[in-house]
Amino acid sequence: MTRKLAPGKLVIASHNAGKVREIRALLEPFGIDPVSAGDLGLPEPEETGTSFRDNALLKAHASASAAGLPALADDSGLEVAALGGRPGVYTADWAERQWFEGEPGRDWYLAMGKVEGLLAGQGPGVDRSACFVCTLALAWPDGHAEVFEGRAEGKLTWPPRGKLGFGYDPVFVPAGKMLTYAEIDPAEKHAISHRADAFAKLVAGAFDAR
Ligand code: IMP
Repeated sequence: MTRKLAPGKLVIASHNAGKVREIRALLEPFGIDPVSAGDLGLPEPEETGTSFRDNALLKAHASASAAGLPALADDSGLEVAALGGRPGVYTADWAERQWFEGEPGRDWYLAMGKVEGLLAGQGPGVDRSACFVCTLALAWPDGHAEVFEGRAEGKLTWPPRGKLGFGYDPVFVPAGKMLTYAEIDPAEKHAISHRADAFAKLVAGAFDAR
């Protein structure tokens, strides 16, 4: 039986502003008082896991034990069919600029360009299917945890389009739509995204019916 989350404070175990914003919006209707790991000054653990599940659990446990509160972590990424599921758990790493020129930091256009370069290298008929995955881990200070996984299928487009959202949003066109995640209204993204899918499972499993 899934453990239920009582109303009250919940740490959002992420230092990614885009994710924190989306998770806050998704939590709003549930009487939860979200506080981010960044606002609490909690350290950001190194993501040493080799799966979304391992990394989500690692982040949730680190925040729950440091804050003494339940904590929710999101590990997510893009799996590209023609690239054998890459970048997968390394989705954020593909944006690291330190191997490139300039200041260390993340450059999402570099990351999207790297994916596109590998796809284009396979020729014009390449399968452009991709899937965003979101794994949510909810951990308590006593070490208990629950995990929920969501997915969103779609296709990659090039060049990038739109200014909304974050990360790889400008190249991802969700199944059945014409616009990218970065072109659609955030409320619409929240209704159909991999994070929304994982959230629906979290709400069904760990939140009391309200
Ligand atoms: P991590 O979960 O912090 O390791 O990072 C996952 C990375 O996947 C993010 O930094 C984004 O680049 C990408 N990602 C995850 N969810 C989304 C999304 O909803 N839109 C665009 N990019 C995303």
